[in-house]
Amino acid sequence: MVSMPPRNSVQQSLIILFCSLVQSVLSNPLKYHPPPKLPLIGHLHHLGALPHQSLRDLSLKYGPLMLLHLGYTPTLVVSSAKMGREIMKTHDVVFSNRPITTAVKEFLYSGKDVAFAPLGEYWRQMRRVCVNDLLSVKRVQSFEFVRDEEIANMTNKINQACLRKIDVNLTDLIVVIASNIISRVALGRTLEGKSESAKLLKEMAEQFGVFSVGDMFPSLGWIDELTGLKKRMRRTSIAMHRFLDEVVQEHLMSKKEGVQADRKDLVDLLLEFEKDYTQRVEFTRENLTVIIMDMFVAGTDTTYTTLEWAMAELANHPVAMKKVQEEVRLVIGKTTKVNESDTSKMNYFNCVIKETLRMHPPLVLSLPRVSTSSTNIEGYQISDKTRVIINLWAICRDPAVWDKPNEFIPERFMNSPTDFTGKHFEFIPFGAGRRGCPGLTFGVTSVEAILANLLYWFDWELTGGAIKIDMTEAFGISVNLKQPLLLAPKAHVF
Ligand code: HEM
Repeated sequence: MVSMPPRNSVQQSLIILFCSLVQSVLSNPLKYHPPPKLPLIGHLHHLGALPHQSLRDLSLKYGPLMLLHLGYTPTLVVSSAKMGREIMKTHDVVFSNRPITTAVKEFLYSGKDVAFAPLGEYWRQMRRVCVNDLLSVKRVQSFEFVRDEEIANMTNKINQACLRKIDVNLTDLIVVIASNIISRVALGRTLEGKSESAKLLKEMAEQFGVFSVGDMFPSLGWIDELTGLKKRMRRTSIAMHRFLDEVVQEHLMSKKEGVQADRKDLVDLLLEFEKDYTQRVEFTRENLTVIIMDMFVAGTDTTYTTLEWAMAELANHPVAMKKVQEEVRLVIGKTTKVNESDTSKMNYFNCVIKETLRMHPPLVLSLPRVSTSSTNIEGYQISDKTRVIINLWAICRDPAVWDKPNEFIPERFMNSPTDFTGKHFEFIPFGAGRRGCPGLTFGVTSVEAILANLLYWFDWELTGGAIKIDMTEAFGISVNLKQPLLLAPKAHVF
């Protein structure tokens, strides 16, 4: 006969069970229940045309850590500075890998680059090469002549528009200069006049931003074959690799031994590393070309996006525009050439750049990460292989941290120690931790140099009697203005 437990022992067990349930609910940031999901597609229907905004709206209701199912893929969405710190600092090792998506497989040979390489010896060595050499402060300074020449080209074009009293499509001009700078630094030449290569790069950037079925429903990856997505990606990737192989061959043929060290481009430098590094980690020609692709994808759109938003915000805020132009012109004085070193003396100008990056971090959802083991965050159990989306846009506009978060107020950064180098988790447009952006100096130096020139040489007005620039966003690999930025320039009379 089975003996029954005494009555108060059952009561005691129930009380203990109830207390532990209450405790787990209280210590669980997802205590409010996850958003409703649908069969098969999970939470996909919650993502609208602007996923960073939809996810922010959900987080206001369901908390700063949300476990969603995007298709079959468990995805943790991080929307506050506190949770960002947990992921990128406290538990950085667990969350420092990136998911290998269809685009990464097709273009970057499943992560033979830096940005998507798995955490390990190869990534560590290549990251070190990027930080200490390819993208170091010294190297970035050595490319000042490239920025100067490209800026001169851009200002010439704007001067022409001033003479003819016509509007300029600033978006087009900024896209060209950002991509010319990257191409010259990476390959030693621009792609202007090479419409095929420029088109390939554009296609690659676009295809990188596409959500593939296989990424959300791994067992349904064949649908991407049926829809032709994989075929398109493969075609672009093969053409892109062929083009980069040709560039590498040209470099090998042109025997640049005599070239000054500070005039070498990234292909020159990577070819030198190829000799050196094969001793320590496997570094093949494929690694070399996909690292160059990283630079294009990560460096071009982010730079032009920042400039586009900065000019659009300033055009919409004439008081800030006047204030920043007065400062830029006062610091630079009367000159024929703007020196890059002058920008460090411009306090308000730097606040304008910070405020632009706060309101418009170009990679609104950062680059995705994935957990490599199960871990506990703030009492919440996250299993391994969980994708992580860090909503930089939501964090940088969190009303709990930022006063009037949706207003462009550069003054908020005056006399403030908050910067974007990854120490202040409420302001992380370049990400943070071991996978934070190694191109920060490169990107910021280009943005500062181009913006300083645009503000120094020209006065800017809205076109066609417009009262405001339409700030509607378009989602992609980076988030830009939906409509190109058209402005009317006037050469400034000093
Ligand atoms: C305004 C300009 C830029 C912004 C806002 C930006 C932003 C970012 C962000 C948010 C990440 C992900 C960080 C993370 O996971 O925590 C990243 C990674 C990266 N960025 Fe940038 N970036 C910029 C410019 C550049 C430039 C100019 C380059 C190179 C020429 C570059 C190269 C990279 C690379 C290689 C990674 C991957 C690092 C890794 O996984 O180890 N970025 N960037």
